[in-house]
Amino acid sequence: MARKEINISYEEYSSIEEMNAEDRELAAEAVAAMSNAYAPYSHFHVGAAVRMSNGQIVRGSNQENAAFPSGLCAERTAMFAAGAKYPDKDMRSIALAGGVHGRLSERPATPCGACRQVMAQYQTKAGKPMSVIMIGAGKVWKFNKVDDILPLIFDSI
Ligand code: THU
Repeated sequence: MARKEINISYEEYSSIEEMNAEDRELAAEAVAAMSNAYAPYSHFHVGAAVRMSNGQIVRGSNQENAAFPSGLCAERTAMFAAGAKYPDKDMRSIALAGGVHGRLSERPATPCGACRQVMAQYQTKAGKPMSVIMIGAGKVWKFNKVDDILPLIFDSI
């Protein structure tokens, strides 16, 4: 038996103002996208923004439905819109922000498992790391690749 370790490192910023210009712009887009959320059930408004390899930014927000599984998270809404609009471009980075009744949470919003899996596959499709920025009012986290939030990614088929 050998004991193995998986090490994850990430960057913590005190606010999006402390980030580089590209990340700051993407983060601001994610926060702005929160106001397009349709969340009449959870009242938890999430915004996401994807930066493409051509520099374009695609926004998404969570969209809920009375038939609960029919709704979709902000991150997948953004990624699927980006994939549909720019099928030949890579997704370089995704930012997300969320909060109850649209008020940005103190702690960064963290993506659900299904969204992490979708991020992982677009990263694999790109063949390059895709960074993930999680925004809170009190701090901001940046992970340089999806592997850091989804170790041992499923990519076997
Ligand atoms: N939600 C997202 O949009 N992204 C996540 O990563 C987690 C959850 C949404 C789904 C639902 O509309 C609401 O937040 C409450 O779960």
